[in-house]
Amino acid sequence: MTQSTRPYRSVLYIPGSNARALDKARSLAADAIIFDLEDAVAPDAKDQARATLREELDKGGYGNRAKLVRINGFESRWGNADIQAFRNAEIDGILLPKVNSAYDVETLAEMMSDVAIWAMMETASGVLNAKEIAAHPRLAGIVMGTNDLVKELGARPGPDRAEIMMALQISLIAARADGVPIVDGVYNAFKDDEGLRRECEQGRDLGFDGKTLIHPAQIAIANEVFAPSQADLDLARRQIAAFEEAEAAGQGVAVVDGKIVENLHIVTAKALIAKADAIADLEG
Ligand code: COA
Ligand code: MG
Repeated sequence: MTQSTRPYRSVLYIPGSNARALDKARSLAADAIIFDLEDAVAPDAKDQARATLREELDKGGYGNRAKLVRINGFESRWGNADIQAFRNAEIDGILLPKVNSAYDVETLAEMMSDVAIWAMMETASGVLNAKEIAAHPRLAGIVMGTNDLVKELGARPGPDRAEIMMALQISLIAARADGVPIVDGVYNAFKDDEGLRRECEQGRDLGFDGKTLIHPAQIAIANEVFAPSQADLDLARRQIAAFEEAEAAGQGVAVVDGKIVENLHIVTAKALIAKADAIADLEG
């Protein structure tokens, strides 16, 4: 599956130190996994987590879902050892935390020659430099770190995320400008399904590809919300059929359900169908 068509509806964090969760993840329906060595792992568990994670990844069994390893920053005590340990691992990318500028991406790119690099967008500087970060040739995706962002901004989290809306949108616009996937931040109240659904819908409507998750119980909701619905797909197929008919009659515009359909709508309709196909592929 190519980077651009791969679904990222549900991206589950798993602490590298949690052997039971690492095993459980082999049977979960997340589109992607972030194996975490950074904030989910306590300082005195870092070395053990790194070793356990490398062992579990070598054992495999995670199917064709995307596998990202979130390392500790290279200015930390553990960053270099993390990079050494996952240099030639079977993974789809390294996720670098607290990226402030394209220089951070370049530094990692020079240390690891082949692997795709993902960036956590979670600092004020990172958001201000989102364009150059997304444009780095080795950058393969962006993950919003909304908890760190709230902390850095000195904000107070509200129900509609007004306090980070501009940061979410700047990051999303930067990702789209360079054609890389971007995944929304986590919803902390992992037992609140209704709140999670609302926040997934908000992220989806803003344009995000999916949501990062902290608990397996959150996967089904994210998968549902970020997948094209049957109604969306039906409409897309009707738009394509109507547009083809209009074109055959020498017209550049069709009308479906009282709304005009132009070529740009057909591009969106086809992308939606391709996304549904990619999801079916991954699940099949
Ligand atoms: N990935 C995979 N499996 C997980 C999981 C995760 N993120 N979180 C929990 N599980 C597993 C548990 O191991 C348990 O498995 P079992 O049934 O085989 O025993 C099962 O799901 C049920 O877990 P539960 O008891 O409901 O949760 P918990 O109290 O053990 O853990 C958290 C709750 C929030 C501490 C835990 O989900 C977690 O650590 N999440 C990730 C946090 C993280 O990575 N943060 C960094 C990014 S923000
Ligand atoms: Mg963080």
